[in-house]
Amino acid sequence: MQDTDSQINQATVPRHIAIIMDGNGRWALRQNKARTFGHKAGVNALKQTIESCASYGVDVLTVFAFSSENWLRPKQEVDVLMGLFMLTLKNQANKLHKNNIRLKIIGDRSRFSTALQGKITEVEALTSNNTSMTLVIAANYGGQWDISQALKRLAKHAKETNKSVDDFDINDFLSTAGLPEPDLFIRTGGEQRISNFLLWQIAYSELYFTDVLWPDFDKNELRTAIMSYSTRQRRFGHTSEQISAGAIK
Ligand code: FPP
Repeated sequence: MQDTDSQINQATVPRHIAIIMDGNGRWALRQNKARTFGHKAGVNALKQTIESCASYGVDVLTVFAFSSENWLRPKQEVDVLMGLFMLTLKNQANKLHKNNIRLKIIGDRSRFSTALQGKITEVEALTSNNTSMTLVIAANYGGQWDISQALKRLAKHAKETNKSVDDFDINDFLSTAGLPEPDLFIRTGGEQRISNFLLWQIAYSELYFTDVLWPDFDKNELRTAIMSYSTRQRRFGHTSEQISAGAIK
């Protein structure tokens, strides 16, 4: 196999990768196993992807672990997902910290158990000063929720400071405030939709869809996605000629 890692240089590595990790259930059902077996395998794929992103020098990895709509799933599956979330935080906190990775959870955490909320706060605090990569886990997250909470907080802040809403930037009130926008948006599992993930933030992201089911997503699949990204010309509204002339630094 050609060593494509050498073709991926810093210039072609996305600064921020966002992933919808879809296909756990189908992966398990294909092996006559319960859907939750797929979620457990999904945690392993996530661990590998974190390691690969860190080794490529990606600054931010954002993954969709649980959407605001996922509460509609059977209670047993929701319970397993919550349990996995807690277990993964417990098991991986020290490893993340040792690897200088900062953890940030985005989403409405008020619906989580007190114990899970406490663990999230604890791991975020432990890793808050880490600088090699930021791992953002979207949990009970929805893009529409994010925009809505941002607008409410912005309006409140404007009122309290006696200023106009025009004096503020919506980005500063989104749950991703301070993070760069995703350069590469990946969805595994064959569906080609956004499913209420980072609606505002992916305005200019490059979209990459693959039929690979999330538990099968490994370093090679990530490399293929980054290679695809590296062939795209991002124009941000400019013309090709302007880009060739160096319009975007
Ligand atoms: C989508 O697959 C996946 C999810 C709803 C959950 C993603 C969770 C993990 C990868 C593991 C837990 C994560 C953490 C951070 C501990 P699906 O169930 O919709 O698959 P399907 O489309 O095949 O049914």
